[in-house]
Formats: sequence, structure tokens, C-alpha cells
Amino acid sequence: MKITIVGTGYVGLVTGTCFAEVGIDVTCVDIDKVKIENLEKGISPIYEPGLDPMIERNVSKGRLNFSTNLAECMAGTDVIFSAVGTPPDEDGSADLQYVLDVARTVGKHMNDYILMVTKSTVPVGTAKRVRNAIQEELDKRGVKIEFDVASNPEFLKEGDAINDFLKPDRIVVGLESEKAENIMKSLYKPFTLNGHPVIFMDVPSAEMTKYAANSMLATKISFMNDIANLCEIMGADVNMVRKGIGSDSRIGTKFIYPGIGYGGSCFPKDVKALIKTADQNGYNMRVLKAVEDVNDDQKSVLFNKLNAYYKGDLKGRTIAMWGLSFKPQTDDMREAPSLVLIEKLINAGCKVKAYDPVAMHEAQRKIGDVVEYSKDTYDTLVDADALMIVTEWTEFRFPNWNVVKKLMKHNVIFDGRNIFDYKEMKEIGFDYQCLGINTTK
Ligand SMILES: NC(=O)c1ccc[n+]([C@@H]2O[C@H](COP(=O)([O-])OP(=O)(O)OC[C@H]3O[C@@H](n4cnc5c(N)ncnc54)[C@H](O)[C@@H]3O)[C@@H](O)[C@H]2O)c1
Repeated sequence: MKITIVGTGYVGLVTGTCFAEVGIDVTCVDIDKVKIENLEKGISPIYEPGLDPMIERNVSKGRLNFSTNLAECMAGTDVIFSAVGTPPDEDGSADLQYVLDVARTVGKHMNDYILMVTKSTVPVGTAKRVRNAIQEELDKRGVKIEFDVASNPEFLKEGDAINDFLKPDRIVVGLESEKAENIMKSLYKPFTLNGHPVIFMDVPSAEMTKYAANSMLATKISFMNDIANLCEIMGADVNMVRKGIGSDSRIGTKFIYPGIGYGGSCFPKDVKALIKTADQNGYNMRVLKAVEDVNDDQKSVLFNKLNAYYKGDLKGRTIAMWGLSFKPQTDDMREAPSLVLIEKLINAGCKVKAYDPVAMHEAQRKIGDVVEYSKDTYDTLVDADALMIVTEWTEFRFPNWNVVKKLMKHNVIFDGRNIFDYKEMKEIGFDYQCLGINTTK
């Protein structure tokens, strides 16, 4: 089988590489020439554990190819996956211009049956618009060619994307014909042999499933951040509460860690888009609006703690920051809470020195040199008035505290990921504040 993946970003590149890994002939297409040129030279545009050797292996076997020309790649292709970006529009709804561009290109150039699968996260009704866009182009050409559309939302997590794709909890496919179902069944067969289920459904339900999943996860995060903030006020310890509720199998242990707010390319935009879809259709998503609200406030929690600690006297202070990416194991800086924190610190007159194992390049591309990028964890700490822990990279977990103490001007730590034990930190000699535990009493 030959497939084409359009959009070679986090989702498209992982999808294409994993399909190639199971022996399928894949071409990944992108309009970004530099991205494709680099991929042809073996340079991946993203940091994703395990991806680079997999790309290399499949390119060398001739199963994974790259191109900037979708029209050229379509000959002989059975399935086209669209994995282009769906960023938020100005009003928060999903911007579908890239998805529809791809559909029009397909309609302009297809000569045989094609199954057009949308992998991007798109609102209910998008498959219909994709179908119409393709059909309009066929009508303009005056040709009749059979095609199907399908929705196959992606559930991979950046940082563990390959595992998620090769061993998925589930694969969701929305489709309209038996022919499309048979194609998708055979395409995903290598992944389902070990029992990973494909759940077939109608297209609108598949489109909604992705938003419902991300919104549920965002809700868990905001709920727990609210509980953490209340724990601090009431003298409870959120770590205990988390264990206490997580042991209830109906709640579960995942996604109930307090933090400095969800970020990344998915939760913020998908929560916004679902709220907008509901508004446009006369329904008020009250829970999700509150989820967003809590998340916006949560991004300021570390700054507020610092401000309270220094009683508003922040001008001229040097703040060390460990971590920039929105979560570990990715270089993705989209909607990273660190960006809000940096802005607040700079506006308050602080100097920020930051270190991240993989995201500094991306951060520099986004915000330039408003912060000083350090060469390692210790380099950030020289003369720092405080350390802020923003991303829980494993390399931050066992620092040499004696070195840390010597390098910092004031031994003050604000931990936005609760990676240390506050009692131990006190014993070592730090003023240590984390989330959901009032350590200042
Ligand atoms: N990143 C994730 O963790 C994740 C997970 C699940 C679903 N998704 C969804 O998948 C979609 C893609 O996300 P991403 O993070 O991979 O985005 P991305 O921005 O990393 O990649 C999108 C790519 O599409 C390319 N593109 C845009 N228009 C094109 C066109 N007309 N032809 C060819 N290429 C084109 C862009 O140049 C870019 O390289 C989004 O809808 C997103 O919500 C993302």
C-alpha cells in the first residue's frame, strides 16, 4: 500500500515514519521547503525520543520519502492523510485554511479513487467541508472520480509519540463507506495484532472524540490545580490528597499532578475551539470555560509566590529558570507556561537566565534574547535571587545542592512541578516553595 501524509510536523512526521516502520510505502509532504530539505539530509525538525534513528532506517530502506509537491506524490497513492496544523483563529475557533487547502489540491490533481483521511484535530463538520472542497474541484474539472473521506484523530503524546503510535490505547476512525473501512482496517492491521483496538464510528463522533478527550484531560489538570491552591490555603498537602484520590480506580493516578498550567499545541487550542463550537451552536460549555480560567491564572502562580516572597521588590533581581518547554521530552514551546512567566518577570524588571535540555533553540526562535540562555543547570544559578522549576526534566532531579547553594545569591526555590520534598529542602537550607503545600508556615 502507498500512502501520502500531508503536513510533516509533530503528528505527520511521526505518523509517516511509524507507517513506514511497518512496511508501508510513505511519502511525507510539507510546504515548508527548509523542513523537507533538512529531512532529506537526515535532520529532523522536531525533538522526539527515538524518532531520528527510525527516520534514518526507513529512508535507507526506501520506504520513507519526502516531498514539497503533493500533486506529484498522488499518483498511485491509495490514502492521503492530512496532518496539517489547525491553529486557533482570532476568535478561538480552529483555523481550517490548511486543511481545506490540502483538500482543494487533492481535488485538483486526483485521477483515481482516494481515501482522504483527516488526522488533524478538527471540529465536527469538517469532513463534510473537506468532501465539498474536493468535489468542487472535481466539478470544475468536469470529471467524476469516486473518493471517500474519513476522520482519524491522533492521540499521540509529544515525548512518547512513537510508543503511542505503535502501541495505541485505541485508534479512532470515523468513516462513511465499507470500502474506506476495509482500507483503514488493513492499514492499521500491523498495530492491532497485539490487541490495540480500532474503534470504528461515524465521522462526526470521531471528530468530537478528539476534542472530548483533550477537554477531559485539561479538566483534570485545572481541577487538580484548583484543589492544590485550596490545599495551600487550608493547610492540606496536595501530594497526599493526590495519592488519596488517585487510588480510586474511577479517578486514576494520571493527570492529577498540580503544575503551572497546561500548555502545548493541543489542550489550549482544543479547549478554546470546543467552547467556540458550542457557542456558535447555542450551547454554553460552563465547565470548560472554568477550566480555561483556572489555567490562565495558574500560569501566574510561581510569579505571585516570588513577588510575595520579595514583597514586590523584584526590580533588578536575577531569576534562574530550569525548563522552558511545556512538558519534558519535547522541544515544543507552543503555549508553554514559561512564556507567560518570562513575560511577567521581564515586566517586573527581573533578569531571567534559563536552561532547557532541548527547547532553548525553539524558545530563542519565539522570544529572541529577552532571556539569557545558559549552558547547563548550574550556569543558570550564578548570582540568582531565586530558582524557578518550570519543566520536570529528569536531569533536574538530582542536583548537587552544595554547588547550587554556593552559586546562588539567595537560596530560594519556587518549584512549579513539585519534584522535591519540601522537608528535605528545608533541611538542606533552602527557602523552598512548591504547589499545593503551604511550606511557608
Ligand atoms: N502535536 C501534538 O501533540 C498533536 C497530537 C494530536 C493531534 N494533533 C493535531 O494534529 C495537527 C497537526 O499538529 P502538529 O503539532 O503536527 O502541527 P505542526 O505545526 O508541527 O505541523 C503542521 C505542518 O503542516 C504543514 N502544512 C501546512 N499547510 C500545508 C499544506 N497545505 N501542505 C503541506 N503541508 C502543510 C506545516 O508547514 C507544518 O510543517 C493539529 O490539528 C493538531 O491539533 C497534534
